[in-house]
Amino acid sequence: MRYSSGARALFAIFVLLKPPSNAHGLDATPRRVQGRTANELEPYSLPNKHTNASRAVAIANKRAAFQYGPGIDGGVSSPAGPLGQKYVATASNITNTESDAEGIITTSDNIGKYNGLANVRDYTLLYKDEWMASARPTGIDPGMLHNYTSDLLFSMSRLSFSPFAVRRLAPYETLPFNVDPSAVMSVTGQSLEEVHQSGKLFYADHRAQRQLNRTKLYAPACDAYFYIANASSEFLPLAIRSNGNISLVYTPMDSPDDWLLAKMMFEVNDFFFAQNDHLARSHWVSEVVYQAAIRTLSDSHPILGLLNRLMYGAFGIRPQAREILYDPGGTFDSFFGFGGATSITFARRLYADGSAGSYLDNYLHTNLRRRGLIDCNYGPALSSFPFYDDAHAIVEAIRTFTTSFVNAYYPDDGEVSEDSELQSWLVETNGPAGGVNFPTARDIVGRCSLVDLLVHFAYLVSANHHAINTNSLLSTAGVYPLHLQALYRPPPSVKGITNIVSYLPPLQQCLGFLNIESAFSRPLLANSNRSLLHMFDDGEFLNRTNNLTRAANAEFKAVMQLQSDKVKSRGFDENGLSQGMPFVWKTLDPAVAPWSLTI
Ligand SMILES: *[C@@H]1O[C@H](CO)[C@@H](O)[C@H](O)[C@H]1NC(C)=O
Ligand SMILES: *[C@@H]1O[C@H](CO)[C@@H](O)[C@H](O)[C@H]1NC(C)=O
Ligand SMILES: *[C@@H]1O[C@H](CO)[C@@H](O)[C@H](O)[C@H]1NC(C)=O
Ligand SMILES: *[C@@H]1O[C@H](CO)[C@@H](O)[C@H](O)[C@H]1NC(C)=O
Ligand SMILES: *[C@@H]1O[C@H](CO)[C@@H](O)[C@H](O)[C@H]1NC(C)=O
Ligand SMILES: *[C@@H]1O[C@H](CO)[C@@H](O)[C@H](O)[C@H]1NC(C)=O
Ligand SMILES: *[C@@H]1O[C@H](CO)[C@@H](O)[C@H](O)[C@H]1NC(C)=O
Ligand SMILES: *[C@@H]1O[C@H](CO)[C@@H](O)[C@H](O)[C@H]1NC(C)=O
Ligand SMILES: *[C@@H]1O[C@H](CO)[C@@H](O)[C@H](O)[C@H]1NC(C)=O
Ligand SMILES: [Fe+2]
Repeated sequence: MRYSSGARALFAIFVLLKPPSNAHGLDATPRRVQGRTANELEPYSLPNKHTNASRAVAIANKRAAFQYGPGIDGGVSSPAGPLGQKYVATASNITNTESDAEGIITTSDNIGKYNGLANVRDYTLLYKDEWMASARPTGIDPGMLHNYTSDLLFSMSRLSFSPFAVRRLAPYETLPFNVDPSAVMSVTGQSLEEVHQSGKLFYADHRAQRQLNRTKLYAPACDAYFYIANASSEFLPLAIRSNGNISLVYTPMDSPDDWLLAKMMFEVNDFFFAQNDHLARSHWVSEVVYQAAIRTLSDSHPILGLLNRLMYGAFGIRPQAREILYDPGGTFDSFFGFGGATSITFARRLYADGSAGSYLDNYLHTNLRRRGLIDCNYGPALSSFPFYDDAHAIVEAIRTFTTSFVNAYYPDDGEVSEDSELQSWLVETNGPAGGVNFPTARDIVGRCSLVDLLVHFAYLVSANHHAINTNSLLSTAGVYPLHLQALYRPPPSVKGITNIVSYLPPLQQCLGFLNIESAFSRPLLANSNRSLLHMFDDGEFLNRTNNLTRAANAEFKAVMQLQSDKVKSRGFDENGLSQGMPFVWKTLDPAVAPWSLTI
């Protein structure tokens, strides 16, 4: 079954039995687009080595044939023109072939076992002996089903698989909302002002969703406080404000049902934010930069060789995402509080305001520092930051590789400014391509800053993407009952609810959405040459580079193998915690997560 045509039917035919091997196996993967014809294994070279008129002519021809067209999903430009269409067709082939092969969901048909989803805990039965083929090799994160009421699980999610909404509040900032002082005292042992002034107060704000048109389902527009606890140093939730028509401020001092529903309401907003934010942050940014590169860099340029590798199949993703997720009647319209067209409008805003779209501001360390999550000079360090642990390890290994690669081609810093194609790429990305705050010639002053630029690109299509999307949906970020896409009745206007289940998705909606989530999983890529540790391990690419780059690839693989061993060894300690969290998070295992974007 073709995924892109079949996915719409997936949530109707939720029991999809599919054998692991099928007619469109991975062996059908076509050669990737390189846009080159003759002399395939010609070594990469820079333009400044000598004048080469035919190289310039080849670029001009490429520019004429590869143009910017309307965004296929309503977002930033998509490739157009005869060559642009060829790139999209070849990439779609890769994307669709991989998607088809991954349709390995196994579900039982025993609907009786769910107990009619009569209470919240019954939602954990949705996973009993199910979805495992799609969720392998990790499975549903251990602890995610058992500990879903844990405050620490809720808060540490902000520091692992959904890290882009939370920030620390600086002492000089005005507090966004007030909380009943006695509740704050009971939870923290301090006043809100004391927590704030000691640099231990954090904030996540999803109020922007209040303005969005909703579907027939419901969504609040929560904002929330988190804090670092004095005694334990744990990062914990302090309060959630619902911002529905009637706004209620919840804390852990409320009844267990009220507080659990408050956390679920926050997750409704956060899931919507995280998935649309990732579209802009990973897909749109990398596509814009790559399209500009195709139009400005020779096919003999080493940097385009690297980007071709990193953007393997990427142009095939937005056509698929549009059809399955964003088009009328698609996933957003059917399962979320806000529909497909609204979602794209929301993502466009995150792209344009720079929060997701800015290139320079979103380098891993720059982004986390700006939000006070690392290197904070007015509050204590986080005692555990799992996203940073794993993303940092991957980014630094990418940096080591990229430094060797760049140094191999640019023997000194001056060569960088003399590379006329590189300079055109910077201008093109910030200009007609529609990039936001991409480095200019003033920023790329030598090899280090060029390395930073390339490292960020590789991070965007790997650790940045897969922490949020890909395997994370089924195994982590979208696990019921805590993680909801919508409420099935309006947010409460008074506290004291006794029937949480009436706010939760009914069975058919759960099964339909689990099917969508499983379509994002890439279990077949685990332990294959599509896993992250093979990021640069491309025969053609390496063949055209040089010994230094080949040696750097070998080192990258070795370092990432060690990181994989480290991630694989994670489990619960004697306190039932892993990395300070009540669930075991292995999403960024470099032998499991892919090295490029997936849908
Ligand atoms: C000049 O550029 C063309 C196109 O990139 C390439 O095929 C050819 O080998 C180059 N010639 C020299 C002498 O570098
Ligand atoms: C897509 O893949 C199929 C099977 O591998 C192949 O026959 C076809 O030519 C490919 N199409 C394009 C546009 O690459
Ligand atoms: C989380 O769940 C696991 C079972 O999956 C359990 O062993 C562990 O003790 C729990 N952790 C906490 C802190 O409750
Ligand atoms: C918490 O720590 C702050 C310093 O960060 C200290 O001023 C305060 O007295 C402590 N409060 C409690 C209740 O331990
Ligand atoms: C919301 O709906 C109104 C009325 O249908 C429409 O005019 C508006 O463009 C929509 N807004 C968004 C962001 O989709
Ligand atoms: C707020 O009230 C309006 C009018 O009663 C209603 O249409 C809308 O759905 C409500 N919004 C939420 C989030 O409950
Ligand atoms: C992965 O390995 C297979 C078999 O060796 C090869 O055919 C395929 O091209 C490789 N895929 C990538 C993306 O490198
Ligand atoms: C690159 O490929 C060519 C042609 O297949 C081969 O002759 C050559 O040995 C390769 N070089 C390296 C370093 O892999
Ligand atoms: C690159 O490595 C190959 C094989 O190890 C070796 O024969 C060749 O001399 C090396 N080239 C350079 C420029 O070091
Ligand atoms: Fe994605």
